[in-house]
Amino acid sequence: MCGIVGYLGEKEAFPIIIKGLQRLEYRGYDSSGVAILGGASGLQHHRKKGKVEALLTEVGENPPSGHLGIGHTRWATHGAPNDVNAHPHLSGDGQLALIHNGIIENYHALKETLTERGHEFYSDTDTEVLVHLIEEVLKSSEDLDLFEATRIALNEVVGAYAIAVIDIARPEELILARKSSPLVIGIGEGEYFVASDATPIVEYTKNVVYLEDEEVARVSLTSGMKIRTIRNHKVTPVITELEMALESIEKGGYEHFMLKEIHEQPRSIQDCLRGRLSLGHNTVRMAGIDDHEPMWKDAKRLIIVACGTSWHAGLIAEYMFEDFARIPVEVEYASEFRYRNPVIGEGDILIAISQSGETADTLAAIRMAKERGAHVFGICNVVGSSISRESHSGAYTHAGPEIGVASTKAFTAQLTVLTLVAMRVGELRNALDSQRRNRLMVELESIPEKIQSMLDQDQKLASIAKVYMSAPNALFLGRGFNFPVALEGALKLKEISYIHAEGYPAAEMKHGPIALIDENMPVFIVATQDAHYEKVLSNIQEVKARGGKIIAVVTKGDKEVARIADHTIEVHPSDDALVPILSTIPFQLLSYHIAVMLDRNVDQPRNLAKSVTVE
Ligand code: F6R
Repeated sequence: MCGIVGYLGEKEAFPIIIKGLQRLEYRGYDSSGVAILGGASGLQHHRKKGKVEALLTEVGENPPSGHLGIGHTRWATHGAPNDVNAHPHLSGDGQLALIHNGIIENYHALKETLTERGHEFYSDTDTEVLVHLIEEVLKSSEDLDLFEATRIALNEVVGAYAIAVIDIARPEELILARKSSPLVIGIGEGEYFVASDATPIVEYTKNVVYLEDEEVARVSLTSGMKIRTIRNHKVTPVITELEMALESIEKGGYEHFMLKEIHEQPRSIQDCLRGRLSLGHNTVRMAGIDDHEPMWKDAKRLIIVACGTSWHAGLIAEYMFEDFARIPVEVEYASEFRYRNPVIGEGDILIAISQSGETADTLAAIRMAKERGAHVFGICNVVGSSISRESHSGAYTHAGPEIGVASTKAFTAQLTVLTLVAMRVGELRNALDSQRRNRLMVELESIPEKIQSMLDQDQKLASIAKVYMSAPNALFLGRGFNFPVALEGALKLKEISYIHAEGYPAAEMKHGPIALIDENMPVFIVATQDAHYEKVLSNIQEVKARGGKIIAVVTKGDKEVARIADHTIEVHPSDDALVPILSTIPFQLLSYHIAVMLDRNVDQPRNLAKSVTVE
């Protein structure tokens, strides 16, 4: 979704802002813009539909010069993706420039009031209304400065925002504020950086302040940083150290971030397991659970909320919690859960799963659960994200930054953490015997190596991809632990290749999807040797009888499926609960190769955003 970058210091702002916007490209956007404030040149304002490259072409050979600037990548919500709606937006008198992530829900009412007072608007955006509102407050009294005017104006705003505002009359200061949309301030030597996430900041400084909801900040070269809440309470800034490394947000020789992230999985899973498996004591160590042992022992029910790929991880976790811990589990789309009137309260534990930790619906579900008395356990990848901060307890996945829009390493890391949580809870509830616990731990330790041997089959997967790259549709099937893997396989393929794909539990095929099967339909199926093996074999026969093509993920050494399938891809045997971490890898690689062969924008597929901060 939209990205924010700002700079205030001694250096030229424009190159820093452009580099920052390029670092944020992974979030997904459709236009970009900058406003730079420079001595004699005043406010230099450029906006362009399309990629940051298009903005650079627009700017041409005379880039704007100045030491204070803001830049934005816009993912259209209010108004079409065009030059006019792109940010920054200017106040009516052209004195203020503002960039905004989020949605101003009452913008229509505000716009009507401001129009009555003589304001004229050039765009369809809610953001332009906000900058006019700040202008209106600023002009209402000579005693107000931009910081105060912004603070007062935000009291009239309903909705979500992360904003950065500059004023031609104040070239030494940058005003920032947030509510429900993240904003990070980087503190350098005599300079400040601002961004919607840490990726544009990490190469300049590791010292950051995360603004909290309803906080307004002023960073100034003369008076430093000042933060107040919009209700005017003083806040002391808390400086934290970024854990992110610069290499982790660069491609490191791979053609795409997605491919790099797929190949990082042996390491990301090792990082996720580090310090958590205690084979000597035959137990799992997770502070987020150990600190609340009685609560997990006595919990009535688990409710898992998430969106997209993270929701698929939640579905697999349902099987694990039932199997290991014998506890009732419900898995919900966060967007559905938050708008129902769900029965949830004390004694329930809500597990929220989110790579970004910023997904608006998941965040809203958490807040609702907290209000109703449930304990919230967050599983996030991004350290310091809103969901991790708003959860009562939780566990990080430690997969490192995921830049490719299609989630890969974050998914397998989520599965790994969820396995550990389910094992620990199973142990606490005396539902998981020590032998199985031990077997699972030994198996978990071997997962990185098993993934590596799957990655070594990459060329074979590329050749299978070539056969099916022109298919208009695809079906993904699986059963038990591997049913959500089928859903995830279909999601991966459709989001990056734009091929229509559906995921189903294999047994459901007969209840409808079988009508789609003919010689043009590739069916990707997980047919590993688990409790459902024989039944999946029958499903494969049914597809073959109707001329469908079978691409099967099988257990190493399997002969039966190989006899009937058109292609097989082998995974090492493992505990049924852990197979999804392995069986999902070939689907990631197949989708990747098909998308590359179709010349798709693999890392930034059309219309998609990495971090969905609006509902
Ligand atoms: C798909 C994908 C999305 C996300 C979803 C939730 O590859 O990445 O479906 O899983 O938008 O995002 P998070 O996990 O950040 O809450």
